[in-house]
Amino acid sequence: MSIFRADALQGLVALVTGGGSGIGAAIAATLAEHGARVAVCGRTQAKLDATAEAIAATGGEALAVAADVRKPEQVEAAMQAIEARWGRLDVLVNSAAGNFLCPAASLSPNGFGTVVDIDLKGTFNACKAALPLLSRAGGSILNISATLHYGGTPLQVHAASAKAGIDALTRTLAVEWGPAGIRVNAIAPGPIDNTEGITRLLPPELRTRAERAIPLRRFGQPREIAEAAVFLASSASAYTTGATLVIDGGHWLTGMGLMTLGE
Ligand code: COA
Repeated sequence: MSIFRADALQGLVALVTGGGSGIGAAIAATLAEHGARVAVCGRTQAKLDATAEAIAATGGEALAVAADVRKPEQVEAAMQAIEARWGRLDVLVNSAAGNFLCPAASLSPNGFGTVVDIDLKGTFNACKAALPLLSRAGGSILNISATLHYGGTPLQVHAASAKAGIDALTRTLAVEWGPAGIRVNAIAPGPIDNTEGITRLLPPELRTRAERAIPLRRFGQPREIAEAAVFLASSASAYTTGATLVIDGGHWLTGMGLMTLGE
């Protein structure tokens, strides 16, 4: 049950990149639950279809468009599909991301570049392609960042660098596009359950230690990111731009090491 009104986003059209799974899928479903019509894009049509079908099953309107954010022409085509279907775009959520664990010393240039291409350049590609439609609507952008770069996170130089770039992009576009009525904000999630970030990157045997390094002593839920996305997409945040909302149970404040904080 949401704290927000069911019609908080009524009339708005949103696009969620990486909307086929994890945090992106949760955001797509939650925006729809609050009245938005939602397009999801990503590389895997089957995952996108599943998200769209789940939204439709709860009475929402959804569109699944396959597009790799690394390919500007595919992102442009997604915008055209949204314009053809709904004639507008009010909210762009950049959630598409790639990551894996690898020491910098053995990371290939292409490995580093691939993650920067998806996370950072993909976010830029989607922002750029969405600009004409967002300008018309006076819409908003929500980038999914991270806390990896607040300190030094070993094995993730590629993702940390890309997310640091996303923070720069968030602030710069907030300044450049604010006069057009476009707000640009970010969410920096900590460890969130039921995401590839946890299932792929955290060995299960480290989970208990990881939880102890989080002041709130638990991992977050996708819904806890998605409800913040509702706030940042809604008129409740009409004067908020260039902001990054950290949602991590206080994890980054501890240095994010897998240290034990006590029982
Ligand atoms: N360790 C080291 N290098 C790796 C790697 C790993 N675990 N996984 C991929 N790479 C390197 C590859 O070796 C390749 O570099 P090379 O050409 O020098 O060998 C480069 O990264 C690209 O890999 P490729 O598999 O061709 O990329 P892709 O576009 O198919 O996949 C990834 C993109 C790498 C990000 C992949 O992990 C992915 O698709 N992940 C799904 C989404 C995800 O990660 N979500 C979690 C978000 S937190």
